[in-house]
Amino acid sequence: MDIGSAKLEWVAQRMQVINKLVEKYEDEQPLKGVKVAISVHLEAKTGYLALSIAKLGADVSVTGSNPLSTQDEIVTELKKRGLKVNAERTHDSGVYERNLNATLDFRPNVIVDDGADLTVAVHEKRPDLLEELWGVCEETTTGVKRIKALENVGKLKVPAILVNDAATKHLFDNRYGTGQSVWDSIMRNTNMNVAEKRVVVAGYGWCGKGVAMRAKGLGARVIVTEIDAIKSLEALMDGFEIMPMKKAARLGDIFVTVTGNTSVIREEHFKEMKDGAILTNAGHFDVEVSVADLERITESKHEARPNVTEYVVDGKRLYLIGEGRLVNLAAADGHPVEIMDLSFSVQLLSAMKIAKDHERMKAKTYAVPAEIDYEIATTKLALLGIEIDSLTEEQKKYLNSW
Ligand SMILES: NC(=O)c1ccc[n+]([C@@H]2O[C@H](COP(=O)([O-])OP(=O)(O)OC[C@H]3O[C@@H](n4cnc5c(N)ncnc54)[C@H](O)[C@@H]3O)[C@@H](O)[C@H]2O)c1
Repeated sequence: MDIGSAKLEWVAQRMQVINKLVEKYEDEQPLKGVKVAISVHLEAKTGYLALSIAKLGADVSVTGSNPLSTQDEIVTELKKRGLKVNAERTHDSGVYERNLNATLDFRPNVIVDDGADLTVAVHEKRPDLLEELWGVCEETTTGVKRIKALENVGKLKVPAILVNDAATKHLFDNRYGTGQSVWDSIMRNTNMNVAEKRVVVAGYGWCGKGVAMRAKGLGARVIVTEIDAIKSLEALMDGFEIMPMKKAARLGDIFVTVTGNTSVIREEHFKEMKDGAILTNAGHFDVEVSVADLERITESKHEARPNVTEYVVDGKRLYLIGEGRLVNLAAADGHPVEIMDLSFSVQLLSAMKIAKDHERMKAKTYAVPAEIDYEIATTKLALLGIEIDSLTEEQKKYLNSW
């Protein structure tokens, strides 16, 4: 079996919530004839989502959602299985954009987006496609921010379901998914010990909490940097040190940015760092660790290991993993499969909702309906063989008695 096919087979056995949903809805063919464009980091789990959406009747076209996060063996395998795919692992943002555009040529009815590149491209560059576009489902925090920005200036023209904000997405994917996969990537790419290191996590949102929690579990001493007073207090009470990046820069052995912001680690910080510091980003765009600053001030640079670039700044060696792109996707396999099973189940059911209800929906952002969250959580618990209590009549009465 070739590698793409083997990877798809591996995830197929483990994405059991999606399998249950497909089993439940396949006869109905709820996406029959619906043109679905998918722009999500294209590795095996995303490939399996695309195949599952196709099983529900959709005509599917797939692309990546970040220049370095596509796995070419999955592209080959999806093409073999009859899907339209425009994607390749590339450093070149021009090639990446050409692939996005080719995917839009398909004139989708539903977009399953991650980071909102397709959604923004339709609104800003290809408004002719809006007539056939029924709605979009957005996977990540940064994409949600971009779509809300469109909505705030009155420019959002289709319904947008904010998949990221579903409980069965961000509570597990952003926290435990990013928490585990960031460390998987840093460990496999450096072969270094995490225990005894000082780890600096920039941003204590859902992702940052997971990254800090898992670093602590691996034995690291963890420093958190934040710009929000409440999140800072929360990190402090969770047992982490809080300080500004300027100070943390001098102390850290391994840095992880996960803020959704720009230039969180920049020239003034690089200059303070210790020889040998490891730099990584897990936020959506490659602007959190300022690679532009590194490139400008470096005395020399070379590939120290696969996926690891050594920059020499003021005589000190700094190591950047995955070119400053999402470290868990550009230089590893992304989130654990069971986590993406939950997130992609939200995507699948949200795409079905748009297909069914788009005529009644308005051009605005929508929360994922609670029924979808509960359908996924209930299915997952049942698959794990875990039972929970339900309210007695007395308890229902008591809770409604106030
Ligand atoms: N790598 C992955 O697989 C993955 C998975 C999910 C989300 N993401 C991306 O990660 C990023 C963060 O997502 P999230 O859900 O944690 O967002 P969030 O909004 O919950 O948290 C971001 C945090 O960063 C803080 N912050 C902003 N600017 C900062 C700065 N200059 N210094 C320190 N802290 C700062 C904010 O106050 C906030 O607490 C987004 O870009 C999101 O799209 C990546």
